[in-house]
Amino acid sequence: MKAIHLKQFGIENLQLADEKIPTPGPHQVLVRIEAVALNYLDIALISGTYKPSLTLPRIPASDGAGTIERIGSEVTRWKKGDRVMVNFYQQWIGGRRTLQNAESQTSQATPGLMVEYACVAEEALVRTPANLTAEEACTLPIAGVTAWNGWFVHAGLKPGQTVVTQGTGGVSIFALQLAKIAGARVIATSGSDHKLDTLKKLGADEVINYKKYPKWHEEVLRLTQQEGADATLDIGGAESIDSSIRSLRMEGFVGLVGFLGGPVLPVDFFRSVVYTVRMKGISVGTREDFEDLARAVEVNGLRPVISQVFPMEKVQEAFRYMQGGSHVGKVVVRVD
Ligand SMILES: NC(=O)c1ccc[n+]([C@@H]2O[C@H](COP(=O)([O-])OP(=O)(O)OC[C@H]3O[C@@H](n4cnc5c(N)ncnc54)[C@H](OP(=O)(O)O)[C@@H]3O)[C@@H](O)[C@H]2O)c1
Repeated sequence: MKAIHLKQFGIENLQLADEKIPTPGPHQVLVRIEAVALNYLDIALISGTYKPSLTLPRIPASDGAGTIERIGSEVTRWKKGDRVMVNFYQQWIGGRRTLQNAESQTSQATPGLMVEYACVAEEALVRTPANLTAEEACTLPIAGVTAWNGWFVHAGLKPGQTVVTQGTGGVSIFALQLAKIAGARVIATSGSDHKLDTLKKLGADEVINYKKYPKWHEEVLRLTQQEGADATLDIGGAESIDSSIRSLRMEGFVGLVGFLGGPVLPVDFFRSVVYTVRMKGISVGTREDFEDLARAVEVNGLRPVISQVFPMEKVQEAFRYMQGGSHVGKVVVRVD
């Protein structure tokens, strides 16, 4: 079978290789992977900046979807032919995050999914929504679950509330789509004017160019009659946290999601305390969160936004395209 191997850190070192199809253990299934979605995390892992201790060689990619080809002798949850997606934290099924389940990330604790066949623990899989292709479904495990978890598990989003989404990457586009199906008002930002048009087409109620307005929170306050938004998912880290906090009403929620502008946050203590801001680190989510998301996607006919699909042979090009930042939503690699 075909697989992508990373033998040394660096996108330029991703190579197509040949491997034997693995045999599933008693509680595993063999999934014919059809598509994988790329994440900023994958770029950070592949380039060696996020976890330089990662052992190589390894197969990259943390997000994937496909069809079950074979089941292990003790498997009860699945049968051959079921369409599935792989949960990011393979052992975080529900309940509290623990040191153990936090160490079960796809592509770090297990091999990655840029491979034609992967053995996956039966507990780590979620049924693919009937309305989605594999290319669409593979975008859900990280970006979709993170946005779901931010709004519905942590922020407690309600219809009629106002949220701010930041930029047009994978997490934020899901955040926009999910907030709209929940009946919220969405103020969406982007650093480029032509992407603002796309955000409007996707349902954003108001848009702000955060490059034109570096203090974009002032625009959010203007658009909310100085009240502030109810919640935002911060993806810019050092570059955006100050505006994230200042864009909120009292007791508003900021999910700490990304670090695109740097991981060390300059947080204004007085504003955060006087406004009693709720700040919460978010790390993707549980399989139960993912199942809730999958149900919502199916019931509401939500279609993930895919910027471009690349064949497996063009994996380097796919990662470079994502690094370039011209995408809106997700970048996908077709595996089969
Ligand atoms: N904590 C978690 O569970 C979790 C899960 C997934 C991702 N993440 C993290 O969240 C971040 C976003 O991930 P992603 O997959 O959505 O990335 P992505 O698809 O690569 O998103 C990139 C986009 O983010 C926007 N952006 C960049 N810097 C910005 C800033 N300072 N303010 C506002 N927008 C900015 C840009 O949109 P425009 O071109 O429109 O300006 C850019 O195109 C990354 O740091 C990633 O590691 C965290």
